[in-house]
Amino acid sequence: MPENTTLQLSPAPSRCSLEMFTHHYGDVYEHSPWVAEAAWRKGLTEAHDAPNALAELMGLMLQQASSEQQIQVIQAHPDLAGKAALAGELTQDSTSEQAGAGLDQCSPEELARFEYLNETYKQQFGFPFVIAVKGLDRHAILAAFEERLGNDAVTERQTAIEQIIRIARFRLIDRATTLM
Ligand code: GUN
Repeated sequence: MPENTTLQLSPAPSRCSLEMFTHHYGDVYEHSPWVAEAAWRKGLTEAHDAPNALAELMGLMLQQASSEQQIQVIQAHPDLAGKAALAGELTQDSTSEQAGAGLDQCSPEELARFEYLNETYKQQFGFPFVIAVKGLDRHAILAAFEERLGNDAVTERQTAIEQIIRIARFRLIDRATTLM
């Protein structure tokens, strides 16, 4: 990006009522508008009109939440290359993230591999496998999938939360516009 440019969110978070803020930013965390609400209640300043600063605060809200709330947010994520994706039932963000990683172009063998890994992972941890897929192709995603199956449950919950915070940051950056 050229120098002297800043990314700004519109509408400006610092000028939003709670209702307006959750309307525009409530979906940054998949099916979990309470994360946006908690961030708004902390008090948004003009610094939070930049996507990275807002992402930081929202991420903190999720890190500070109870493990039950964290698990609910993880569980709100659809399977990668799963049945809901094939049926076109994902949110707009999930649809474009999964397609961006080429997951809509899996061969039947790759789909079977995802189905097997999705089920194995959910049986092992009790929640779906979540990874920020931006910049990854399906081979890298499958490799990460296999590797993370070797983690213990506490490590994996924390890894999933970190990945979800990354996904939210990418979503906010995608929605921002560049100011010259
Ligand atoms: N990473 C980015 N988008 C998604 C998604 O929709 N589901 C999962 N499991 N991980 C993601």
